[in-house]
Amino acid sequence: MPWLNSELAPETRAKAALAAMTLDEKLRLIFGYSDQALTELAKVPDEIVAPDLKRYVVSHQVKGSAGFVPGVPRLGIPDQTQTDASMGVRNSFIPSTALPSSLATAASFDPEVPRAGGVMIGAEARATRHNTMLAGGINLAREPRSGRNFEYAGEDPLLAGIMVGALINGIQSNHIISTIKHFAVNDQETLRTSLDVTISAAAMRQSDLLAFELAIEKSSPGSVMCSYNLINGRWGCENDYLLNKVLKHDWGYKGFVMSDWGAVHSTVDAANDGLDQFTGFCCKDDKPWFAPPAMKAALQSGAIPRNRLDDMVERILWAMFAKGVVDHPVQVSPIDYAANAALSQKAAEESLVLLKNDGDLLPLRGVKSIAVLGGSADKGVLAGAGSSDVTPVGGAVTIDNHTYLPSPPVDALKRELPKAKIAFDPGSDLAAAASLAAQSDVAIVFVTRHNSEGSEASLEMVGNQDALVAAVAKANPRTIVVAETGGAIYMPWIDEVPAILEAFYPGIRGGPAIARILTGKVNPSGHLPISFPASADQLARPDIAGLGKPDGTPEEVLYDEGAAIGYKWYDLKGYKPLFWFGHGLSYTNFELSNLAAQPDGKAIRVSFAMRNVGKRQGKGVAQVYVAPADWKKAGWEAPKRLGAFAKANLKPGQIKSIELTIDPRLLATYEAAGNNWHIRAGEYRLMLGEASDDLLKSVAVTLTDAVWSASTTN
Ligand code: GLC
Repeated sequence: MPWLNSELAPETRAKAALAAMTLDEKLRLIFGYSDQALTELAKVPDEIVAPDLKRYVVSHQVKGSAGFVPGVPRLGIPDQTQTDASMGVRNSFIPSTALPSSLATAASFDPEVPRAGGVMIGAEARATRHNTMLAGGINLAREPRSGRNFEYAGEDPLLAGIMVGALINGIQSNHIISTIKHFAVNDQETLRTSLDVTISAAAMRQSDLLAFELAIEKSSPGSVMCSYNLINGRWGCENDYLLNKVLKHDWGYKGFVMSDWGAVHSTVDAANDGLDQFTGFCCKDDKPWFAPPAMKAALQSGAIPRNRLDDMVERILWAMFAKGVVDHPVQVSPIDYAANAALSQKAAEESLVLLKNDGDLLPLRGVKSIAVLGGSADKGVLAGAGSSDVTPVGGAVTIDNHTYLPSPPVDALKRELPKAKIAFDPGSDLAAAASLAAQSDVAIVFVTRHNSEGSEASLEMVGNQDALVAAVAKANPRTIVVAETGGAIYMPWIDEVPAILEAFYPGIRGGPAIARILTGKVNPSGHLPISFPASADQLARPDIAGLGKPDGTPEEVLYDEGAAIGYKWYDLKGYKPLFWFGHGLSYTNFELSNLAAQPDGKAIRVSFAMRNVGKRQGKGVAQVYVAPADWKKAGWEAPKRLGAFAKANLKPGQIKSIELTIDPRLLATYEAAGNNWHIRAGEYRLMLGEASDDLLKSVAVTLTDAVWSASTTN
């Protein structure tokens, strides 16, 4: 079996294995089962799934995990054992380690953070017998209310592309396949399985698709998961433009496209328009579109050419050989949960964002009594819900149907401040809460905003949380708010509160991470990957498309904001959000200087120095934004774009020289007519700062006109 020779190139091995396969063996690889198969597959007619295959699936899948695709034992091709997702292994029977949300680790602005996180969760996937991780969620936060923004990497394509690319590299370093998902423009959860997104090719290429393109270039994920929704009238999993033209032709993608669970709507169109693997079959409402009967009929009639089936299988095989799945079979092995939790805590400590710190109220110093209120801070930290949830060792804590990870910030604060008197009040009685706050040196109010796959959530806080913050802040001016949220939230009390720490969903050691930042053991260094709008008036669309309609209702949404997402939108409209993309404070201060820039081919090279001018060690995040002198004439979607960023760990007084390159696509617009990127000649301003609204230095460079193909393969 020459294909098992690891000296050979994956392409060669895939072709050789394909040539040895029978038709039935090929059909095994393109049709996967969900975890419901365990109980439901027996009810599927034998002519759809043969009895021996049913027995194989039920006896070989990892119980409680997302999916399973049978391999070909005769040829040494392993099964694909699929587990969710980007924050850790999701299995109802096996505990695993929850990273902070992907939005949180994106806030670190340090790709090493999601990469190390990916190494850890990928190792746990391997140790629980999974060789495919359904991770790499990268849909942009076009809709700030989206229930899954916590699973993704924010509103900017460059930041998302770099951070998710790093996560995928970390996961795949374990010789397993990672996906990148959901391809594409699956930017809201409401009516996700029937929403038809109307958006121009240029807008897609300059936003959602650019994030995918950058991440795929940086990490070569073995699989791309196509999305539930329609894009310009075609289902995501039978979308010739997105799958065949953009992904496979223009980007030269060699891996395979798997479907989201239940996202397939045909046999012939799906296969011919780019889907390689129907994943997650079972059983009630799912039609077995890629099961043998339907596929054999389509091959027989010629509706699906035989070489298309071969291409589907070859892509799957390529990914299995290229990512090491064949040469490094997964097997159950011990997990060092303590070490993995420590890594998760480090990730959180790199990611939490200090939004406000008037009067340097933080870090806490010399406080003798602390009132901690709300947010179930005595029980744990909030986690997001849906297919990305993770069951921790010892189980999660459920409060009001929401999942909390057992990492209470109150206990962590007590460990950090053993001499302080720390009292907790749940915050349900405002008078009692205010009274406790009034008697304490400082008050810390925890607020939570639950987000879940499958639905949108308004940015208002629920329950009495806003009133609690207002009452406590009135009772004690030294009030700190810690927010555990899936994304942005409105803050009607923002002017009454001197200090705000955004913790997002901080993962299995969120409590200690929060406590160590509040007490100054760790200097916060996160910066916002998502802007915080001040009100619904600032949103690109006041109403969520399809809200309130039954699932499956056909609904169209026109994304006429195009690529102007997040800070680009607020710039374009002249709005002032509560907090801008890139914002984040430190317990020290940094100075940026010596900015210089010059064209470098179609790119721009930028150099500058960052110095820590404060009294304590800290990590600064320098951001470079680009703005054409006349952005409308340059055809841009908004006045400026993030062009590059860098994080540096500096001791007091230490200075570091930094050199960055701005990718030409971030200087260009996409022209659909010629399938080109186009940089228009003219002056471009490079602006340097520590947030998109804090850009103190700038230089200009002049670029010449440049046009080049958006296709890397012709
Ligand atoms: C879900 C999600 C997808 C997940 C899959 C398997 O519906 O959309 O992200 O990987 O099904 O659980």
